[in-house]
Amino acid sequence: MTDLLLTIVHHLLAFTLAGVIAVEAVLVRPGLGRRGLALLGRVDAAYGALAGLLVLIGAARVYFGLKGWEFFIYNPTFWAKMAAFTAVGLLSIAPTIRIARWRAAGGGEAYIVPDAEIAHVRRFITAEVAVFALIPIFAATMARGY
Ligand code: HEM
Repeated sequence: MTDLLLTIVHHLLAFTLAGVIAVEAVLVRPGLGRRGLALLGRVDAAYGALAGLLVLIGAARVYFGLKGWEFFIYNPTFWAKMAAFTAVGLLSIAPTIRIARWRAAGGGEAYIVPDAEIAHVRRFITAEVAVFALIPIFAATMARGY
C-alpha cells in the first residue's frame, strides 16, 4: 500500500512539475509586464515546492519501495536520472533569480521586461525542457534494471 501511494504521489508531482515548466515557458515571452510577473512569481515558487516534494517522495520510493534501496543505488540509470534532475534544478536557478529581480524592479505598472533579458532566460528554460525530457527515459530504464 505504501509503495502504491508513493507511486501515485510521485507521478502526480512529476506531471505537475512538467506542467509548471511549460507554464513558465509560455509566460516568459516578450511583452512580459507586471500582471504576468505576479503570476510568474507564484508559478516559480510552485516549481520550487514541487521539486522539493519530488525529492522527498522519490527518496521515500527508494527506501520504502517494493524493490529495496539496493536495486536503485547500484543502478547507473538511477544515477543518470538523479543527474538529469539535478541539472534541471541548476538550470532553474538563473530564471528564478531573474524573475525575482524583474518583480523587484521599479517602473510601476508600465514596466515591461527588456526583450534581451527574456531571450536570456528563455535559453535556460528551453535547456530545462530538453534535460527534463531525459528523466522519464532514465526512469523507465531504471525501473527495468538497465
Ligand atoms: C530526486 C528525485 C527523484 C527520485 C529519487 C525518484 C525515484 C524514483 C523511484 C525510486 C522510482 C521507482 C521505480 C521502480 O518502481 O522501479 C521512480 C519511478 C519513476 N519516476 Fe522518479 N524519482 C525522482 C524524480 C522524478 C522526476 C522529476 C520525474 C519526472 C518525469 C520522475 C519520473 C518517474 C517515472 C515516470 C517513474 C516510473 C518509471 C516506470 O515504472 O517505468 N521521477 N522514481
